Amino acid sequence: MESPRLSDTGTPGEPYSPVGVDTPATQSSVLFDGNLEELLRNFPLDQYILVTGGLGFIGSHTTLELLKANYNVVVIDDLSNSFREVLDRISLLASKHHELQGTKMPELHLHAHDFRDTVALKSLLEQYQVESRWGTSKSKISGVIHFAAYKAVEESIRSPLKYYANNVSGLIDFASTLGDFGIKTFIFSSSATVYGTLATSGLPLREELCVHKQEAFHDDDGSERAIQSGCTGITNPYGRTKWMCEAILADLAASDPEWTIVALRYFNPIGCDESGLLGEDPRQVPTNLLPVVVKVMTGQYSELQMFGTDWETADGTAVRDFIHVTDLARGHIAALSTANEGKLVENFRTFNLGTGRGHSVMEVVDTMERVSSKRIPTKASSRRAGDVGSCVAVASRSQAELQWRTEKTLTDACVNLCSFLEISGLSS
Ligand code: WQD
Repeated sequence: MESPRLSDTGTPGEPYSPVGVDTPATQSSVLFDGNLEELLRNFPLDQYILVTGGLGFIGSHTTLELLKANYNVVVIDDLSNSFREVLDRISLLASKHHELQGTKMPELHLHAHDFRDTVALKSLLEQYQVESRWGTSKSKISGVIHFAAYKAVEESIRSPLKYYANNVSGLIDFASTLGDFGIKTFIFSSSATVYGTLATSGLPLREELCVHKQEAFHDDDGSERAIQSGCTGITNPYGRTKWMCEAILADLAASDPEWTIVALRYFNPIGCDESGLLGEDPRQVPTNLLPVVVKVMTGQYSELQMFGTDWETADGTAVRDFIHVTDLARGHIAALSTANEGKLVENFRTFNLGTGRGHSVMEVVDTMERVSSKRIPTKASSRRAGDVGSCVAVASRSQAELQWRTEKTLTDACVNLCSFLEISGLSS
């Protein structure tokens, strides 16, 4: 199906007008003989979710899942590490979903600027302000998911100030402006790197191991443990920016109960949407494992360097908790609805988004070779600065409090990546 050319409108209320393609949005009748549930299903609430970095790897998958869940979405993305055509692909996939469901395609808007451009941000937020009957103004933006950040561990070691300026100062100004507009439901893209060297302590990585106020929790053997706020042995500036942002947001929530803030600690997102249309295609040189494996599979790289084969793991290569990006995206939907329904245990809450199961680098290579029937040349190399030997989630809190759990496997992720390579014509 030819992807329709789509205008990226910046004006709310003017939903996508795909050029030359009819969609349920233009077909749907306003005469409903259905019940309220059907009405709500077909008419997304006049609420919008603001997504920064919404065209990036995780952002694009989350934007797609939001649209499929009937949310209107406003994306801010400066295209520094993404491509505008991703917007068309998201809209195509979401439109197909709603066509099959017989439901109305929500609105999707792109504002292609840096989230740190406060003038542009304020202009955007003004467009979504409405005057209430009592003369107070209220935003139609009912929640924000903040992905926009630099995320390359090694680059953060070389250029720390760039990371602190964008990830930390950027967050402070962004949250301040949102607060000025009364937008106070905030989902923050955090990372398992906040656990630092605790990752290799052998302790199960529970959220309680990295807190921002003194807390007590019960160990698996039932004994009560007091944990002080702070972090332990974060190994790189990137991880420190994530921890600092969490601490800042925790303080903000403590200062103003109107804020509802969730920090989602990603483990290792991999794979792509099953359609194969949203594969990870960063502008910048990839450093994460699967994008590098893809480069080897397409012949752009001659081999995969395995950073460290002497880790204290079963096969000597590092172990990570690889979570399918679609599961990760759906974790954001679960966090958003839990926050908006007022069901969070406290108004600042952290959640691990992981599978709870580890796989080694070697296992990833073996799985991809099995799924693709391609050999992936590897070379044992020295450890990479900032790496840890193992990092695997305890996923029980997000299962219990967000009613969310992962459903896809490492094999699913590899199968979906192969589809992406086929469709993109990249598979040699
Ligand atoms: C995974 C394993 C590497 C590339 C990073 C960042 C952060 C976080 C997750 C969001 C490691 C090994 C990698 C290669 C290799 N995302 N590897 N050869 O470092 O666990 O975490 O991504 O917060 O971006 O913390 O992920 O994919 O870079 O590495 O051997 O060419 O694969 O040494 O053991 P990492 P990664």
